[in-house]
Amino acid sequence: MNEISVHNVEQELHVPLNEPERQYYYMDRAKEYLEKMSEAAGRPLTFCVTTFGCQMNARDSEKLTGILERIGYVEEPDEEKADFVIYNTCTVRENANQRVYGRLGQLGRIKKKNPHMMIALCGCMMQEPEVVEKLNKSYRFVDLIFGTHNIYKFAELLAVRMETGRTVTDIWKDTDRIVEDLPSERKYPFKSGVNIMFGCNNFCSYCIVPYVRGRERSRDPEAIIREIERLVADGVVEVMLLGQNVNSYGKTLEHPMSFAELLRKIERIDGLERIRFMTSHPKDLSDELIQVMAGSKKICRHLHLPVQSGSTRILEKMNRRYTKEGYLALVERIRQAMPDISLTTDIIVGFPGETEEDFLETMDVVRKVRYDSAFTFIYSKRTGTPAAAMADQIPEEVVRDRFNRLLHEVQEISAERCAIHEGTVQTVLAEAVNDHDSRLITGRMGNNLLVHFPGDASMIGKFYPVYLRECKGFYYLGEIVSGE
Ligand code: 5AD
Ligand code: SF4
Repeated sequence: MNEISVHNVEQELHVPLNEPERQYYYMDRAKEYLEKMSEAAGRPLTFCVTTFGCQMNARDSEKLTGILERIGYVEEPDEEKADFVIYNTCTVRENANQRVYGRLGQLGRIKKKNPHMMIALCGCMMQEPEVVEKLNKSYRFVDLIFGTHNIYKFAELLAVRMETGRTVTDIWKDTDRIVEDLPSERKYPFKSGVNIMFGCNNFCSYCIVPYVRGRERSRDPEAIIREIERLVADGVVEVMLLGQNVNSYGKTLEHPMSFAELLRKIERIDGLERIRFMTSHPKDLSDELIQVMAGSKKICRHLHLPVQSGSTRILEKMNRRYTKEGYLALVERIRQAMPDISLTTDIIVGFPGETEEDFLETMDVVRKVRYDSAFTFIYSKRTGTPAAAMADQIPEEVVRDRFNRLLHEVQEISAERCAIHEGTVQTVLAEAVNDHDSRLITGRMGNNLLVHFPGDASMIGKFYPVYLRECKGFYYLGEIVSGE
């Protein structure tokens, strides 16, 4: 770094104070610096953003990518070859953390051989003080560490790192701020995630998210609509509205608005064909939302409705604020309004104090609801959450056994659910050339099922009527029916 002049960042008075102008200013500065670095290296410098965890993180990574491309970095899909590697981390379960440490060790060895290389870590894991402590102690080769609340400051932090050559660590405890209108680079040209809210106020007793993502705050509806309109003008036909609990959207706005009202507004955007959203908390899912969904032509017939457990006793200890019966009644209302809806869920096995009877209640819910698919998780103890301090943590072999029984049940039911569409024609969005056979296109139906059918790359991003010839367990083989 020594051959390049170092500004004294603190002393500069012409730095804009307002956002997002300030970040655009730093993008320009980082760009200048990167040009010098590229000259010294004799080639363009590359970056790779690796995402762990949920769709929120995937969307954040698109924002990081947008900033990096504007600065002039070139994307390199292989992180072992990239000059700048960014890990956008997840900490919802302990094994996510372990994966990050493992891969980071490997990156450290590669960095020793590449003098131009930088490593940044961000996302939920960085909001845990023990993690940052461990990084400072045992992973000193990391160049940049920031958290979930100040991700919008990426350009500024990177510019400071470039210009000072020092490790930059910036973690905020919380924020009430939402910065709009920063660049972002979509992974798919035809579909996009759109944040509608950040954070979570629910404090389910097992979950670390409220501690690392902070308090719930909703984006202004105008900002959301403006973003979607721009996306549609840029070729997007499908949006996924993102929030930890979309059903409580708008409660904290200056002019409160329900999620159902927001959906009605989004539905009116011309050129937008499909609307998805996640995640829905059962306790906040209103009849108004069911009505809006049932009457909509654009909202996909798919609802991700995490149940977590089927035992009312455990649900109470989880602080979920609904009962087994309440959940089943809600499912009944949803199915009555939309008989063709696809329902998916998240389930945790082995929560502290879970007995065999509690587990059988979960199995009972699975059999009654018959989910189209379910994500099953082994309970993971997260330091600082109320559940971590609960007595009666369940032995690993008991949890494993329950997990296997649950998985078997869930898979059997989802294969049966998938098969019911065989022989029908469905509207399918062509998403990608098939990974295994380049003569096939992989498309997605409104209910989120995948179908592979003959086609080519020119079809990507468009809708086709596809005949579902054969169900293969959890996906279909099909062919386009010619429209007369
Ligand atoms: N252990 C296991 N699974 C968890 N989830 C959240 N916290 C934990 C935990 N401590 C699961 C929940 C949630 C999904 C995103 O992750 O099922 O819905
Ligand atoms: Fe975690 Fe519960 Fe919030 Fe979901 S609703 S993010 S499970 S605390």
